[in-house]
Amino acid sequence: MHQIVRKARRWRAVLSVPGDKSISHRALLFGALAEGRSRITRLAPGRDVASTAACLSSLGVRIERDGANAVVVNGAGPAGITAPPGDLDAGNSGTTMRLLSGILAGRPFTSVLTGDASLRRRPMRRIVEPLERMGGRIETSPEGTAPLRILGTRLSGADVTLPVASAQLKSCVLLAGMLAEGRTSVTEPALSRDHTERMLGGMGVRIRRDGLRLELEGPQTPRPCDFDVPGDISSAAFLMVAAALIPDSELTLENVGVNPTRTGILEVLRAMGCPVEELNARTLQGEPRADLRIRTASLSGTEIRAGLIPKIIDEIPILAVAACRAAGRTVVRDAAELRVKETDRIAAVAKNLAAMGVRAEVFEDGFAIDGPQPLRGAVIDSMEDHRIAMAFTVAGLLAEGETRIEGTECADISYPGFFDLLSGIDYA
Ligand code: S3P
Repeated sequence: MHQIVRKARRWRAVLSVPGDKSISHRALLFGALAEGRSRITRLAPGRDVASTAACLSSLGVRIERDGANAVVVNGAGPAGITAPPGDLDAGNSGTTMRLLSGILAGRPFTSVLTGDASLRRRPMRRIVEPLERMGGRIETSPEGTAPLRILGTRLSGADVTLPVASAQLKSCVLLAGMLAEGRTSVTEPALSRDHTERMLGGMGVRIRRDGLRLELEGPQTPRPCDFDVPGDISSAAFLMVAAALIPDSELTLENVGVNPTRTGILEVLRAMGCPVEELNARTLQGEPRADLRIRTASLSGTEIRAGLIPKIIDEIPILAVAACRAAGRTVVRDAAELRVKETDRIAAVAKNLAAMGVRAEVFEDGFAIDGPQPLRGAVIDSMEDHRIAMAFTVAGLLAEGETRIEGTECADISYPGFFDLLSGIDYA
């Protein structure tokens, strides 16, 4: 599929974005490990979360629809996760593969976890090594990629230090630790999104935090819990940048998750000169949320490095688009993780910006853009990466002439309905 986009004149609307993808995966997985019914409202509708639900169903977990916007997970404790009839397909979802591996490593059966071509290229030794230290047995391809053959066994706790700040790795170790005998600790080099710690804590799992180190005693079984999933700030980011840069615009985005480990985009937009307002701030089930109001603003360049990177990791492609329209230099460094996302996002951003006539300096761990630079309508390759497809759709709304984005079906990974929003915009 493709989408044609042209320059927008004005965008004024009150919208809500789909449920948070990270929280939705966790609500399903943790609900499956609990003993009893967990009801989840506003579960993320995208294909990634559907992959988690489908894997859990193959593992014997009963997940039912409950009315228009809720699902119920009927957990039966870890023992309710049983041998699947065939291979488990995580699709495009790194979170599904890495978190589920932590659970499957500690269950007494063999399973195979695979995924699409993109997921089968992504590094998995980073979960295999810590799980092996806990007694886990996992076979990968010679390159250390999926399919993963997980020979489930009894795990014992271990002290794990992660080489990168990654919530997927941290969560994988914590889940394995919950099934293991004894103490598990996990230390990360910078704080990554902390939904796992918050949500498991709310389900009665005792996890201690000491700076960047988390520790738990296994085995522990979470209590069932009801979750209302807030809107996904990573999806909201595309709309925020569009509203900041399309003339005469104002968007209100209702009920967006504003967990401080996810709000790098708000910090950065504010540093660039766009005063995003947070209204109706409240916290439900340990996860803060607010309505976000964004108006057109003149942006200036900024620097994003080190500890800020994990808080904005999925928003860097759309930030690159903002950088083109900002006065002065925007620099992103310490973001080599972008090279191993759904696609190499540094290369994908550079290639598509070049197609639109923008010069960017590319580093192994980031890029620099001197703005403002005009964006020229072009043919864009999504590289089958949802965030690249949506970031360059916004670029198309800012560009002179027509932009054609190829391979747009991937937006369904996190944001089904994203392209329907285009009909609510005023065009020149
Ligand atoms: C996620 C963590 C991040 C993020 C991904 C979702 C999660 O990956 O990029 O989209 O739900 O834990 P890393 O943990 O590998 O940084």
